[in-house]
Amino acid sequence: MDASTLIPAQADLPALKAVAAGCTACELYAPATQTVFGAGNPEAKVLLVGEQPGDVEDQRGLPFVGPAGKLLQRAVAEAGFEQGAVYVTNAVKHFRFEQRGKRRIHQTPQPEHIRACNPWVAAEISAVHPEVVVCLGATAVKALLGSKYRVTKDRGELLQYTGPGAEERTKALITIHPSAILRMPDDAREKGYADLVADLTVAARAVA
Ligand code: URA
Ligand code: SF4
Repeated sequence: MDASTLIPAQADLPALKAVAAGCTACELYAPATQTVFGAGNPEAKVLLVGEQPGDVEDQRGLPFVGPAGKLLQRAVAEAGFEQGAVYVTNAVKHFRFEQRGKRRIHQTPQPEHIRACNPWVAAEISAVHPEVVVCLGATAVKALLGSKYRVTKDRGELLQYTGPGAEERTKALITIHPSAILRMPDDAREKGYADLVADLTVAARAVA
């Protein structure tokens, strides 16, 4: 089962978001607080795709508003995007976690979750029709580009995008996930952040 049967034809983003709020196409909806749909400029030239909402996003109902999101927003600005220029979303729209006492520990979504949720990100890409789809980390790469690509090998260059929602002119750009930068040891983090900004700058220049 995937979410495709739920998706209204020709729907705009608010309509998609409203239907996604009731999605039960995979098991992840049950323990999570809410569907976290994408947000940002509906006519963005650059659409960024993360993995799944984190703990803060799950509670607030918005993507990339927690610690990784703050880092990402700073990097996006530093790469040269105007405030509100981009659209941000996730490959999987519900937070997958393991409850340990009071803490909710992030768990990477599995292939079946990525597959079930794929119609949502595909519909977002079709609605926004960006010029560049940025994949933040391995889950987004798996969801949109497939197993041929690897973050470390393929990051930072404009690729032809042929994934869900692709148009002929659509490009893809792979970069590291902002959470991976937060997990780096202190002495590596500055370079990790600079490399993220450099990759995002490639996307910004492509649409300037
Ligand atoms: N990490 C993600 O991949 N997405 C979010 O929205 C927040 C953290
Ligand atoms: Fe639906 Fe995606 Fe949530 Fe699964 S993770 S229930 S497919 S919105």
